[in-house]
Amino acid sequence: MSKSRLYSGMQPSADSLQVGNYIGALLQWRDLQDAYDAFFSVVDLHALTQPNDPAELREKTRRTAAQYIAAGIEPSKSTLYVQSHVRAHAELAWILSTITGFGEASRMTQFKDKSARYGTDATNVGLFTYPVLMAADILLYQTDIVPVGDDQKQHVELTRDLAERFNSRYGTAFTVPMATIQQDTARIYDLQNPTAKMSKSAESDAGVLWLLDDPAVSAKKIMRAVTDNDGSVRYDRESKPGVSNLLTIYAALTGRQVPSIEDEYAGRGYGDFKKGLAEVVVAEFGPVRERALELLADPAELDRVLASNADRAAEVADATLADVYDKVGLLRRR
Ligand code: TYM
Repeated sequence: MSKSRLYSGMQPSADSLQVGNYIGALLQWRDLQDAYDAFFSVVDLHALTQPNDPAELREKTRRTAAQYIAAGIEPSKSTLYVQSHVRAHAELAWILSTITGFGEASRMTQFKDKSARYGTDATNVGLFTYPVLMAADILLYQTDIVPVGDDQKQHVELTRDLAERFNSRYGTAFTVPMATIQQDTARIYDLQNPTAKMSKSAESDAGVLWLLDDPAVSAKKIMRAVTDNDGSVRYDRESKPGVSNLLTIYAALTGRQVPSIEDEYAGRGYGDFKKGLAEVVVAEFGPVRERALELLADPAELDRVLASNADRAAEVADATLADVYDKVGLLRRR
C-alpha cells in the first residue's frame, strides 16, 4: 500500500527558527517522515508579504532549509524544497482565489491581527490572500495530513473548505486534508510574556529562544524567563503561565511527562529548574546548530539538494495543476 501524504512548511522570516517552530512543528515532522510520504517546503513566497531585503531573504531561505535538515529531516527520504522553485503554487493560488469568498478571507484571524498591527496602509493584498496560497501549497500534493501548531488551524480549515467546494463544483481534483496538532505542544509562549505566542516576529528578543542562538545566550534567556512568586514547579496554565510554558518546553525536548519533571524539582525552587532546562536546551540545540552551520558553509551543495527535491515536488504539483486547469475549462495549449 502506498503511504499517505504529509505536507507542511515554514516561512523563512528570520535568520533562525524559534523553539515554538521546533517543538510545535519540526519535532512532529521528524517523527512522521518515515510513516508518510512527506513534503516540507520553505515558503518564500509567503515571506514576501512582509518587507524583506532581497539578499537577506535568499539567506534566510537557505538557513531555514539547513535547519530542517539539521533537525533531522532527511532530503533523501522526504521532499524538502523551496516553494518558489515550483511554479504551480502561485498558479493554483490564483485559481483558488476565484472560489474564495471575500468575507471568508476577511475572517482569518492571522490576517486580522497582522493588519491591525501594521495598519491598513502597510497591509498588502498578499497578506490578505496568504491563506489561499497556503491552501494551494497543501492541495497541490493531494495531502492527507498537515502537522502544524495551533495558530495554523484556521488556515487548514479554509483549505478543507476550498477543496470540498472545488471538488463539488468541478469534479474531484483534491484530497481533503486534515490538520494534525499535537495538543500539549500546540502553542509555545514567549518567555517574557507567557500569555503571548512565541513568534519569529516578536518585538523583543529576550522572550524568544532561537535554534541558532549561541547556547550561552539561550541559557541566559531561560534563567531570565518570567515566572511567578509561588515558588513551586507546578503546571497550571491559568495562574502560572510562565512556569507552565517552561515545563512544556522541558517535557517536549526530553520526551518526558510533565508530572515526572514536577516531581524531580519538587521543593527545589525556580533557579534549579531553570538551570536544568537550560542544560536540556543547550544539549538539544547545540548539535542542531552545529550541523546547520556546517550545511550553510557549503551553499552550493545545499542548493543542489534543494533543486533535485524541487524537481520531485514539481512532478506531483504539475499533475494536480494540469487536472485543475482542465476541470475549470482553461483551453489546453497544443
Ligand atoms: P510559520 O512559519 O509561522 O510557523 C511554522 C510552524 O511553526 C508553528 N509555530 C508554533 N507552534 C507552537 N508554538 C509556537 N509559538 C509556534 N510558532 C509557530 C506554526 O504553527 C507552523 O506549524 N502559514 C504557515 C506556513 C505555511 C504552511 C503551508 C504550513 C505556508 N504554507 C502549508 C503548513 C502547510 C506559517 O506562517 O508558519
